[in-house]
Amino acid sequence: MGDTANLIVINGTETTFEPGDTILDAARRIGIDIPTLCHLKGATATGACRVCLVEVQGARSLVAACAMPAAPRMVVATESAKVVTARRLVIQLLLASGNHNCLVKGSDGRSFEAYAERLARAGGNIEPCPAWGDCRLQELAWRYEVTGGRFSPTPPRYPLEDVNPFIVRDFSRCILCGRCVQACNEVQVNQAIHFGYRGARSKIIAAGDRPYRESDCVFCGECVQACPTGALVEKEARHAVRPWETRRVRTTCTYCGVGCQTELHVKENRVVKVTGVPGAAPNDGRLCVKGRFGFDFIASPERLTTPLIRENGSFRQASWEEAAGLVARRLTEIRAAHGPDSIGVLTSARITNEENYIAQKFTRAVVGTNNIDHCARL
Ligand code: FES
Repeated sequence: MGDTANLIVINGTETTFEPGDTILDAARRIGIDIPTLCHLKGATATGACRVCLVEVQGARSLVAACAMPAAPRMVVATESAKVVTARRLVIQLLLASGNHNCLVKGSDGRSFEAYAERLARAGGNIEPCPAWGDCRLQELAWRYEVTGGRFSPTPPRYPLEDVNPFIVRDFSRCILCGRCVQACNEVQVNQAIHFGYRGARSKIIAAGDRPYRESDCVFCGECVQACPTGALVEKEARHAVRPWETRRVRTTCTYCGVGCQTELHVKENRVVKVTGVPGAAPNDGRLCVKGRFGFDFIASPERLTTPLIRENGSFRQASWEEAAGLVARRLTEIRAAHGPDSIGVLTSARITNEENYIAQKFTRAVVGTNNIDHCARL
């Protein structure tokens, strides 16, 4: 080995690390997957969940890879027997910490029904989790073949909160990983939610423990996107759609000129949910309330499906040909009488980017004016 100033060995592979790297960073750079739950990219490492425990040669105990800085000549094992035993215990404790009735079955071989019975006796809600199939905890339980019967499930301490316009909070499925708090405070810098109470009564609270809608929350939904379980879910999508039933369509948000990258979750040609695209500029997964939740108009039954022409102060239905013909005739007359700059066109965030492009092209190239604007600037 030559200069060992920034060399680390992970699972027998020697690699270099950058100043400020954690063991997790160094491992990910060479494609070694250390599981995480509380780790949120770009936020301060909290080491809260302990799922990322790894073995460092010479260390007295296992260390959290997400919080431990990489150091020269460190020798790390990420899946040793000791690590896997500890990780399985952590997952078992997390499963028992609340209402996680997804893939678990008794370690004594009893069925899910038996577990559900015990959970129900403890006051737990056995309704299927809305995050089933899209839950990091469930995924890790499956990966490490963890069953839920070793520890008795903890009864829910706080009722479900569904009074908010866009977000349902199910405290019984919260593992207190703190990702939502970091997403709110460090990523979006909204400072709306925090840890409240202490010990077994710990809870994520807003405005001194009030519903989101009575707090400073702006409903950007960053907390929902950060939640690794079913504790925070989109109200519209909750129990309306399963994750594997949707097709994801990458697109650009139409609401303003920033160009945030979004993924539309589409079921049977209907948008049921919108998420940001992590790692994609300019928003790196972040969205505002409009981009994330403002899509209900797409399938609204109140949408006009027939053109209306105003006559004598009231509207009458018309065909598309008649409406388009009337608009073309009136625009031509106005332009001939007063010039192209007497016409202005306002476009909408509720049409597609392509339609907005066509509208500006029509305004400039056909009408002959630069009087084109968009509702985002009104
Ligand atoms: Fe490292 Fe949670 S991911 S402690």
